[in-house]
Amino acid sequence: MNTFKPLVFSGVQPTGNLHLGNYLGAIRKFVALQENNDCIYCVVDLHALTAQLVHDDMASQIRSITAAFLASGIDPKSHIVFNQSAVPQHAELAWIFNCVARIGWMNRMTQFKDKAGKDRENASLGLFAYPSLMAADILVYRATHVPVGDDQKQHLELARDIAMKFNMDFMEKIRASGYGVDITVGEEPVHAYFPMVEPLIDGPAPRVMSLKDGTKKMSKSDPSDLSRINLMDDAETIARKIRKAKTDPDALPSEVDGLKGRPEADNLVGIFAALADKTKAEVLGEFGGQQFSVFKPALIELAVDVLAPVNAEMRRLMADPGHIDAVLRDGGQRARERAEKTMKEVRDIIGFVQ
Ligand code: TYM
Repeated sequence: MNTFKPLVFSGVQPTGNLHLGNYLGAIRKFVALQENNDCIYCVVDLHALTAQLVHDDMASQIRSITAAFLASGIDPKSHIVFNQSAVPQHAELAWIFNCVARIGWMNRMTQFKDKAGKDRENASLGLFAYPSLMAADILVYRATHVPVGDDQKQHLELARDIAMKFNMDFMEKIRASGYGVDITVGEEPVHAYFPMVEPLIDGPAPRVMSLKDGTKKMSKSDPSDLSRINLMDDAETIARKIRKAKTDPDALPSEVDGLKGRPEADNLVGIFAALADKTKAEVLGEFGGQQFSVFKPALIELAVDVLAPVNAEMRRLMADPGHIDAVLRDGGQRARERAEKTMKEVRDIIGFVQ
């Protein structure tokens, strides 16, 4: 039982073009969750420095992710939309978490290994500590639910480990402070300051794969632009990329089981299902037995139908950077107030004089 007030938090890095993976794995879920939850959505600009320090177009990248949030239907008045650097409490809590997290935990992070590549000695310290900042992003609001794509699962497990160790190490002080909450972790009752965050990964497209290779994640860093659909692609480009997407020679199966061992077919069916708000089984109910020559045109029509209005609204919003900046400033101010409340309590629990 989790007795923390439910709060949704998630973040997207302002690096490179947003693609269909970001949209289906994350942003579309952000939009759905705002119906019944208090939500905070963040453009994580501090994270963008970890892999590349100098960005010529940082401001426009931040505005473009913000535009994508708004164009997709996130309401910045009922919820909070802001950029991470506007709330210095994230970095403050991240430092404390750097002292909570163990080097052994960080060494197990597969994304660090992938991103650092062979030249590990030359990766930034920020890239290594990245998951600790990510834990701080979430926990500085004591958020309980985090919608993300499948690739962030390990980072969220680490956020739970950090929260748990903080709760355990400071247990007596948390109890004395009166800021704690009674929760159950497994069977164990724990008096906690930080919640155990729940990842929200499910859905038909938790991991959207490359259009050129169904075993590789769709990614901003893939050198081939044909491997991904970008949110800023026009209808003709979307159509061309889907037409050229890799497939196999067989017809689509009628059951989800039949997608096993057919990564490209599985990926395209998952994309269709996520765009249509259906399950893969429903999509196969409609297209089972059909060839890709029938399925691809239907997918093109659906993808263009869903993405064209987002694309058009993003372009409209990007033409008025003053409006986007005002949204971020307003969100930043409200986020800061909430984050500072947590940090006052954290400083108190630790024993800092303030
Ligand atoms: P980022 O910016 O790489 O990606 C943003 C979101 O898109 C999801 N995603 C995908 N989902 C499905 N299929 C794909 N091919 C795909 N590619 C990306 C990611 O899982 C993510 O949800 N570390 C995070 C940003 C972050 C964050 C946080 C997220 C920083 N602090 C706190 C949640 C909570 C990242 O790099 O996402």
